Amino acid sequence: MQLKHFLAATTAFLAISQPTLAYHVKRSNHAMLTLPPAFPGQGPLPTVAQVQSSSAGNDTLPLVNIQGDILVGMKKQKELFVFFHINNATAFKSVLKTYAATNITSISTLLSAPSAQPLAFVNLAFSQAGMTALGVTDDIGDSVFTAGQFSDASALGDDTSNWESAFQGTNIDGVFLIGSDEDTITAQYQADLETKLGDAWTVVYNLTSSVRPDDEAGHEHFGYLDGISNPTITGFGDALPGQSVVDPGIILANRTGDPVSSRPSWALDGSFLVFRKLKQLVPEFNKWTLDNAIQNSAGNLTTEEGATLLGARMFGRWKSGAPIDLSPDADNSTLGTDPELNNNFNYIHTGSDLTTDESRCPFSAHVRKTNPRDLEAQGLLTDLNHAIRAGTPYGPEVTDAESSSNTTQTDRGLAFVEYQSVISNGFRTQQLIWANNANFPFNKSESIGLDPVIGQGTRITYGLSETNYSESYSVTQFVVSNGGEYFFSPSITALVETFAA
Ligand code: HEM
Ligand SMILES: *[C@@H]1O[C@H](CO)[C@@H](O)[C@H](O)[C@H]1NC(C)=O
Ligand SMILES: *[C@@H]1O[C@H](CO)[C@@H](O)[C@H](O)[C@H]1NC(C)=O
Ligand SMILES: *[C@@H]1O[C@H](CO)[C@@H](O)[C@H](O)[C@H]1NC(C)=O
Ligand SMILES: *[C@@H]1O[C@H](CO)[C@@H](O)[C@H](O)[C@H]1NC(C)=O
Ligand SMILES: *[C@@H]1O[C@H](CO)[C@@H](O)[C@H](O)[C@H]1NC(C)=O
Ligand SMILES: *[C@@H]1O[C@H](CO)[C@@H](O)[C@H](O)[C@H]1NC(C)=O
Ligand SMILES: *[C@@H]1O[C@H](CO)[C@@H](O)[C@H](O)[C@H]1NC(C)=O
Ligand SMILES: *[C@@H]1O[C@H](CO)[C@@H](O)[C@H](O)[C@H]1NC(C)=O
Ligand SMILES: *[C@@H]1O[C@H](CO)[C@@H](O)[C@H](O)[C@H]1NC(C)=O
Ligand SMILES: *[C@@H]1O[C@H](CO)[C@@H](O)[C@H](O)[C@H]1NC(C)=O
Repeated sequence: MQLKHFLAATTAFLAISQPTLAYHVKRSNHAMLTLPPAFPGQGPLPTVAQVQSSSAGNDTLPLVNIQGDILVGMKKQKELFVFFHINNATAFKSVLKTYAATNITSISTLLSAPSAQPLAFVNLAFSQAGMTALGVTDDIGDSVFTAGQFSDASALGDDTSNWESAFQGTNIDGVFLIGSDEDTITAQYQADLETKLGDAWTVVYNLTSSVRPDDEAGHEHFGYLDGISNPTITGFGDALPGQSVVDPGIILANRTGDPVSSRPSWALDGSFLVFRKLKQLVPEFNKWTLDNAIQNSAGNLTTEEGATLLGARMFGRWKSGAPIDLSPDADNSTLGTDPELNNNFNYIHTGSDLTTDESRCPFSAHVRKTNPRDLEAQGLLTDLNHAIRAGTPYGPEVTDAESSSNTTQTDRGLAFVEYQSVISNGFRTQQLIWANNANFPFNKSESIGLDPVIGQGTRITYGLSETNYSESYSVTQFVVSNGGEYFFSPSITALVETFAA
């Protein structure tokens, strides 16, 4: 056969038999998987060598064995969540056995040189229902995980009539997370899974998320820069100024610092993945901040400026990411986008009374509710409640018609993902014990109210006014939970040796 015929035949063969030809094409000059620090405000990632030469709380982390999204997730250009039900455990396991060994992306892959990056990363996590379906029956030691998120919905303050039907009940067995720079590539990876898994599974729900365009890259749909204040774990690179450093076991099961000591051995290096589809009502948020625009102490703000200040006080950061604790009067994008500066605060200032002073940041602000840095700095809280967020926005940009009508017409929001070793300490404390609790942070002598962004219950919030902290605000609910599930993202060895066994 002449060479050109051979090539043509080979190409045709590949095109037919391998829908995932892309697997075999490593990226060259055109990156297909952009990794941090790809977005404003994020610090650099360590190299594999740096992590391995340090001691992660005396544990040497096997980076090749830990799913990449857990520590390197943050934001992705495109991320496809494929929620599935297992129909035939035997058939599912036989595919999983090979797939997990070869195609689940580890931390070390994500930390390796760009030329060694795959076109997409693939991670995989199971719900309790999925573990049970696969015959993994050991008690993993997390009761809210075992019960599933649907049974936790009312405790979290969700109205389950807003839940996507796919999340109601315990029908979702697992989720594949596929991240890339191109929708066409995530789609190819999904198609590959469909081909490999055939009748062994049914996809019950998909969600496509993506980084927002242009200057909004890295910002969530309300407009605020997100993903800039994750904790890190001991030994995983140098901490940024002000960044929390926690024991590996706060994030990874069975590592130093994991407060649960009775886990099965296969749980080592896995992490609980809390998924929530959080719808955001952006035009409604914009209208509310305009209608309730506040004044500063000089009394010289326009309505637009007062709305911007109110929004910043609801979040605790300006849209650029600048913390209001460091820049209370005006946004400062230099401060917001510099990872050496944008975490270096803890609400403590000389001469300021921590129980009453909300001049810089309300006690109820989203970032202060979900990470009360002053309480931790004062030794009133341990570091048990930290978790790593790795969500990405979903849905299109707000249209002119939506803006001018002040009404959301198309679904958009946050595909919220958070990793921790104990769901009740991480996500559940942040949402239920803190954001939803009108009296948190404790040790304050002002009324606080709910987190004005994510608090659920009677949405009364105080402290938003810069001139009268006792003024109460009845804040419209701009973030609506459409449901979710609690998953466990096992180590790659556990996927192969336990889940696929
Ligand atoms: C649509 C819903 C949400 C939006 C728009 C949102 C937005 C933001 C923004 C803009 C920041 C500041 C950027 C940063 O610190 O990285 C932030 C921080 C944070 N959020 Fe959210 N968030 C949402 C839901 C949640 C939920 C459900 C939780 C947990 C229950 C949560 C926990 C946190 C935590 C822990 C921080 C870091 C605070 C700090 O360390 O200073 N967020 N969020
Ligand atoms: C690491 O080991 C040293 C020496 O054995 C010990 O003092 C220290 O507490 C350990 N650190 C952690 C986080 O376990
Ligand atoms: C499940 O898959 C196995 C292995 O592919 C196959 O032998 C078996 O017939 C399937 N069971 C059903 C009920 O389809
Ligand atoms: C997926 O696994 C196959 C081997 O089964 C390998 O050739 C390919 O490079 C892998 N792809 C990725 C993205 O890891
Ligand atoms: C998920 O996406 C695939 C590929 O686009 C599509 O064929 C399928 O219908 C979707 N499934 C669900 C339940 O949305
Ligand atoms: C790790 O797992 C083993 C069982 O394999 C258990 O004996 C040990 O207590 C666990 N350690 C932690 C820190 O959870
Ligand atoms: C408002 O007044 C203060 C104090 O005089 C001044 O520093 C600030 O620049 C003024 N702000 C605006 C928006 O005019
Ligand atoms: C903005 O923040 C940077 C970094 O902290 C600081 O150097 C600069 O003076 C600030 N700009 C203004 C206008 O406050
Ligand atoms: C939208 O809200 C703004 C601020 O309250 C208001 O000025 C405007 O009239 C509203 N538009 C409509 C169509 O209701
Ligand atoms: C402050 O918090 C600590 C720890 O929860 C608590 O013991 C103490 O009573 C609190 N003090 C006040 C004044 O609320
Ligand atoms: C502050 O707001 C509270 C509650 O609305 C009100 O009772 C009080 O009079 C206000 N104080 C001032 C100084 O305006």
